[in-house]
Amino acid sequence: MSSQDPSKSSVVVPQHVAVIMDGNGRWAKRRGQRRTAGHRAGFKAVRSMVEHSVRRGVGALTLFAFSSENWRRPEDEVGVLMQLFVEALQREVDELVEQGVRLRFIGERERLAPRLREAMTNSEQRTAGNARLQLFVAVSYGGRWDLVQAARSLARDVHAGRVDPAAIDENALAARLSLAGVAEPDLFIRTGGEHRLSNFLLWNLAYTELYFCDTLWPDFGPDDYDAAIAQFARRERRFGLTSEQLKDLG
Ligand code: FPP
Repeated sequence: MSSQDPSKSSVVVPQHVAVIMDGNGRWAKRRGQRRTAGHRAGFKAVRSMVEHSVRRGVGALTLFAFSSENWRRPEDEVGVLMQLFVEALQREVDELVEQGVRLRFIGERERLAPRLREAMTNSEQRTAGNARLQLFVAVSYGGRWDLVQAARSLARDVHAGRVDPAAIDENALAARLSLAGVAEPDLFIRTGGEHRLSNFLLWNLAYTELYFCDTLWPDFGPDDYDAAIAQFARRERRFGLTSEQLKDLG
């Protein structure tokens, strides 16, 4: 049991956790290995986080696996990552079904190879009936891309006369984002020591509690996850209100 095991206390568990899994490259370099070995090790940490999310009762988990900007990485690294995604999907889908995990992908699919797109669709279909944990994997995703595609979709509907520009509000835009209908993340975790959002869920993270740690992603285990959850539970979420107002609301 972890020293900060939330299941052994009345700790508030975040219902949606969003993660930037940073530090795979450095993890590998420190061991004299290629960066791609770090990504393989990183995948094991993904599996552990999914299992622990189920254990803790987290309802949704969104993982940033490959950003719009990651396409600029060396061709061989991009190739290995894409291959890793395909292999992982083919290998892990049965396990996800067993654990009650529903898997969905967000991002610009058109940029991905047909083989990967096919594996994504197949795993989404196979896990569609599950409800214990909603797992969103962001691949070829960027927060700015997400906002642009939502704006484009609204513009199309305005142009066609289906939407009155005066009626466009926050809900109208949010309904066209990749995570439409999913509660906003309560907790954001970034491993690897950097303190930035790197174009992740720009809209959705507006009121999310941010947690940064130095642990490199492949080393991030259940105890580290519990430490993040425990810190989240100690935060006061005010959503623009004052502490006094929150107390009055009970
Ligand atoms: C960032 O570390 C990590 C990535 C760009 C890839 C994340 C991918 C995985 C963890 C593996 C597979 C995941 C799934 C869901 C199938 P970095 O390479 O930027 O590390 P560095 O900052 O140390 O260079």
